[in-house]
Amino acid sequence: MNLADLNKVALAMVTPGKGILAADESSGTIKKRFDAIKVESTEDNRRDYREMLFRSQEAMSKYISGVILYDETIWQNAKDGTPLVKLIEQAGAIPGIKVDEGTQALPACPGELVTVGLDRLAERLAKYYERGARFAKWRAVIDIGGGGTGGRGTGGPSIPTMTAIRVNAHALARYAALCQAAQIVPIVEPEVLMDGDHDIDRCYDVTQRVLNRTFQELRVQRVALEGMILKPNMAISGKKCPKQASVQEVAEKTVRLLKSCVPAAVPGIAFLSGGQSDEEATAHLDAMNKIGPLPWRLTFSYGRALQAAPQKAWSGKADNVAAGQRAFSHRARMNGLASTGTWDAGLEKRAA
Ligand code: 13P
Repeated sequence: MNLADLNKVALAMVTPGKGILAADESSGTIKKRFDAIKVESTEDNRRDYREMLFRSQEAMSKYISGVILYDETIWQNAKDGTPLVKLIEQAGAIPGIKVDEGTQALPACPGELVTVGLDRLAERLAKYYERGARFAKWRAVIDIGGGGTGGRGTGGPSIPTMTAIRVNAHALARYAALCQAAQIVPIVEPEVLMDGDHDIDRCYDVTQRVLNRTFQELRVQRVALEGMILKPNMAISGKKCPKQASVQEVAEKTVRLLKSCVPAAVPGIAFLSGGQSDEEATAHLDAMNKIGPLPWRLTFSYGRALQAAPQKAWSGKADNVAAGQRAFSHRARMNGLASTGTWDAGLEKRAA
């Protein structure tokens, strides 16, 4: 492992003014997104959609530091035969790859999940590196429960169990250590879901337990913190909580929480959007960066909050590619500004 090079890549991923595009939806998830815009989820449509994003010159060259790809996409070529990975590199962004293989039910822990995909991961990482990936992502899912949403939340207020937190943290650290051995920067993503009716303080407490355990495992497994990026949720009210915390409260509590759990050796933190609206996700990031100074760079690694608008504008029609790219560039610019605490809500209205 060359830690200086890993650190260089990690710092580039959190370049001020830029952030990460999470375009690594699994086949099931992208189908759900396409269903919403009445587009059939074929291999060609998935390629066309992602090619549209990666050819958004303004967004990609100015505001996007890296792109997280799904396995199918990293091997795909654009319509003209150029590998999609090359389009990303030509725009000056870094290709990355989601390497977890989804979740499975955690035995003896009703309603809880463990992320899988460690088997043969070293071999897969070597192939992804050869194809151009310089960072990877692994997402652990922690459900606070009580929400009863979509078959989840069945464990009630007793979840998350310590078991779920420990096994997921262990897997995250195993993955991170394997990545660094393969000269790939791991994005460590322990996501505490915002599904449910819990308040912001419950989210804070659970996220604190999760992050503390995750960093404990990272230390045990000798992961070099200078060569990784953390991708956490924010401290935020559950979606169904009757009392929604303000932007300022989310920003202050998230910064306090991260300061208490995340060592300064970590070069950057890139948040997931997790179901927040596009503008909320931007406003929260901006408010945190306005608090500064902070020990690490804070930016975005958004999926839905970057892609909802371009998906709608595109709607599967070749004639709408320019409109889709404009919508993507707008959101990328707004989040780029938020990554330096220089966004304001007026910029959204003027663009509308
Ligand atoms: P969202 O921003 O839609 O939560 O997606 C980010 C991501 O990569 C989740 O793993």
